[in-house]
Amino acid sequence: MARITVPLIQQKKAEGKKITALTAYDFPYAKLIDEAEIDIVMVGDSVGIVVQGKSSTLSVTMDEMLYHTRMVSQAVQHALVIGDMPFMSYQISLEETIRNAGRFLKEGGAAAVKMEGVEVADRIEKLALYDIPVMGHIGLTPQSVHRMGGYKVQGREDQGAARLLAGAKRLESAGAFGLVLEGIPMTLARQITEALKIPTIGIGAGPYCDGQILVLHDLLGLSSRFRPKFVRRYADLGSMASDAFRRFKSDVESAKYPTEEEGYG
Ligand code: KIV
Repeated sequence: MARITVPLIQQKKAEGKKITALTAYDFPYAKLIDEAEIDIVMVGDSVGIVVQGKSSTLSVTMDEMLYHTRMVSQAVQHALVIGDMPFMSYQISLEETIRNAGRFLKEGGAAAVKMEGVEVADRIEKLALYDIPVMGHIGLTPQSVHRMGGYKVQGREDQGAARLLAGAKRLESAGAFGLVLEGIPMTLARQITEALKIPTIGIGAGPYCDGQILVLHDLLGLSSRFRPKFVRRYADLGSMASDAFRRFKSDVESAKYPTEEEGYG
């Protein structure tokens, strides 16, 4: 299988083929996702919630993101690896944005980065100039949790919807190679998808996007956080793991594990 590149992701939209994307934060899961021929592995700052157990993504640092991106890149042979720029790694200055985005490619082994918001359009323009591909992210942007007053669907009213549509166009003209649409009404997602040449990747944005992404732990049933209605649980690894731990405990306590066959002579 050929390596998935930024132009190949864009080509998929042109050919009307759906794009698949999942988040990953470590070697074993990234390897399984890659072997399943998923197009994009996103090292999301959702790591703060689903792995670190925090209530938001705001505390995640550049060093933590690079640590996880390295593990993922080590495993992935085919998919496009995208590193998610954490809160305050791209807001302060253009210089810091370029340095931090560059670190994802140089130290993390990613092929692209992702940034939230429309106000970063000028940053995206510069990064594109230096050949650092950027995926935009609009709608319910988790780093804006305090402004939004929680994780709420965005763009329900006409004004908000018009702002998001204009923002999507602005990010496309700034040079974003794709756009995550998170937590917006499906009619708006469809309108944005039809208005753009670059692909849209939806999460909680309905079926009319060019592709879909889910947070790995949500899809596998490993997430203890609130489960939004858009999440489809494809497995219940949480229950399987819990059952395995209980059986191990019971076997050790009742001296059923290990047996002599499981020991060295
Ligand atoms: O942080 C994340 O995992 C994300 C994706 C769900 C798009 O932003």
